[in-house]
Amino acid sequence: MKGIILAGGKGTRLYPLTKITNKHILPVGKEPMIFNPIKQLISVGIKDILIVTSREHMGALVNLLGSGREFGCSFTFKVQDEPKGIADALLLGENFAGGDSIVVILGDNIASHSIKPYVEKFENQDIGAKVLLKEVNEPHLFGIAALDETKIVKIQEKPDKPESNYAVIGIYMYDNNVFDIIRKIDYSLRGELEITSVNNEYIKRNQLTYDILRGYWTDAGTFETYKLANEILFNIDNKIISGDE
Ligand code: G1P
Repeated sequence: MKGIILAGGKGTRLYPLTKITNKHILPVGKEPMIFNPIKQLISVGIKDILIVTSREHMGALVNLLGSGREFGCSFTFKVQDEPKGIADALLLGENFAGGDSIVVILGDNIASHSIKPYVEKFENQDIGAKVLLKEVNEPHLFGIAALDETKIVKIQEKPDKPESNYAVIGIYMYDNNVFDIIRKIDYSLRGELEITSVNNEYIKRNQLTYDILRGYWTDAGTFETYKLANEILFNIDNKIISGDE
């Protein structure tokens, strides 16, 4: 199992904080934002981590993170030339994955508790993917899952009329078929390869499982959510909670 952190994008909703730096380097609690997804992967036991970012921010991220020695892991870095979506960035991880399954985290997703229990369940799944859900107040801002008694029947990206309050958060587990699936999906109206299209293909194949994430979670792409991310991480001293606390 390998880890991929997607840390591209322009971070325009946090301008001017992001005028000269990458969103994922901004402080959250006492550390740069990207430390939380890194620690999350390490809490699962993943030591091989690929970081994907844009060319203008690669230098800063390499400067910040180095080889991974200080974290007890090993970093690989890849450049996404143009911001063409989350699935487009993920495709850059194909050689890195080298046939393994992957845990993918969007670099602005901040979580208090380790995802280890869900990753262990995913490892017992022969094929397919797993997503994690969390109830949100503003469902039109997320990928939203429509559920029946047992499974996700459909995911809609930022729907006008959300069918539930369950957001598909930016922590995903995929088998190695994910790269073939990305090559098959079409660009969305906003000109991106959407991760939601990838997840919907797994639903079609009847291979998508889900769990509800425990603990505190937010993404940190707007001023409101960035403030919440700071509150969450200050409260837990930037640690990942591993047990049942
Ligand atoms: C992305 C995904 C969306 C998901 C969200 C979680 O949205 O497209 O499905 O719910 O991350 O953070 P965006 O990065 O456009 O906010």
